[in-house]
Amino acid sequence: MFEKVEELKKELKSAIAGSEAELETYRLRFISKKGVITELFNDFKNVPNDQKKEFGAALNELKTLAQEKFQELVEQISGSQSAGKTDTIDLTLPPIPDSLGSLHPLTKVKTRIIKIFERIGFNVSDGPEIEDDWHNFTALNFPPNHPAREMQDTFFVKKANGKDVDQDILLRTHTSNVQIRLMEHTEPPIRSIMPGRVFRNEAISARAHCVFHQVEGLYIDENVGFKDLKQTLYHFAKEMFGKDIKVRYRPSYFPFTEPSAEIDISCLICKGDGCNICKYSGWVEIAGSGMVDPNVLENCGIDSQKYTGFAFGMGIERIAMLKYEINDLRLYTENDIRFLKQFTGVT
Ligand code: DAH
Repeated sequence: MFEKVEELKKELKSAIAGSEAELETYRLRFISKKGVITELFNDFKNVPNDQKKEFGAALNELKTLAQEKFQELVEQISGSQSAGKTDTIDLTLPPIPDSLGSLHPLTKVKTRIIKIFERIGFNVSDGPEIEDDWHNFTALNFPPNHPAREMQDTFFVKKANGKDVDQDILLRTHTSNVQIRLMEHTEPPIRSIMPGRVFRNEAISARAHCVFHQVEGLYIDENVGFKDLKQTLYHFAKEMFGKDIKVRYRPSYFPFTEPSAEIDISCLICKGDGCNICKYSGWVEIAGSGMVDPNVLENCGIDSQKYTGFAFGMGIERIAMLKYEINDLRLYTENDIRFLKQFTGVT
């Protein structure tokens, strides 16, 4: 029996495990409940009484040795595995690039519009999306029951009882409300642009949406004339769309400006030859504008004898559509990654 213990000691001391399978073989032979050491413990009852003490000690020593060796082999195996892994890294391979995100095209266009106007002395103003009738309509010279109010398809906000509609509180239909708020609280000269979200109760289609973005512009000072309006927006069109762009001013009507003009640029798609984007006219509209009506100045406490000014408003979606040749408004809000990805690195 003592010989068996000695034999096993030698065997386990010289044991090696080059793989998981060999380690398992070792475990089964020396450590497991069905292994040789357990077997010797089971035979302990057959050892003559006078040898029991000595044999027990030898057996315990063998068991400890087996466990220490096992631990050693486990460490060797895991060491050699991770070493093996290091060997498989090829440092000469090019790295897998991180995929770059991009700004939303509307954000890009908005930022660009802001930059263009900031460079010529405009600052940026902000106003509320939930607005009252005064700032969205009345102060802008929309008489009560005027058809222009109907044209704007207003969303009215419900009263606190959750049933009745409050005719005074609404989602702003344009960013022109910010003009009013600015003029109410600021002494001229005022030179500001006002980007923001606007809401109209329209069915969603390729050409219309119930939520979209506008940028309003306002310049109030002594001696501001239509020439300033023309030159400012001419400068904007060149900076935004390139120096070859043509700009024209078409007489129009807005309650808050007199005279009023719509601003067209030569069609970027067909270069003025005629296509379905410009409805074969060679021109596309980009903004509404005009000289601020004296009534509007007076409504905001600005002396219309002393000050004059111009205002304009344009749709950011529309500018982005023309710039990037986007043909469906719904693409802006669907968040389809294939659409958005195209704007990585685009200015
Ligand atoms: N508020 C107008 C709209 O939503 C756009 C507009 C036209 C704004 C003329 C102006 C302006 O400031 O002068 O259709």
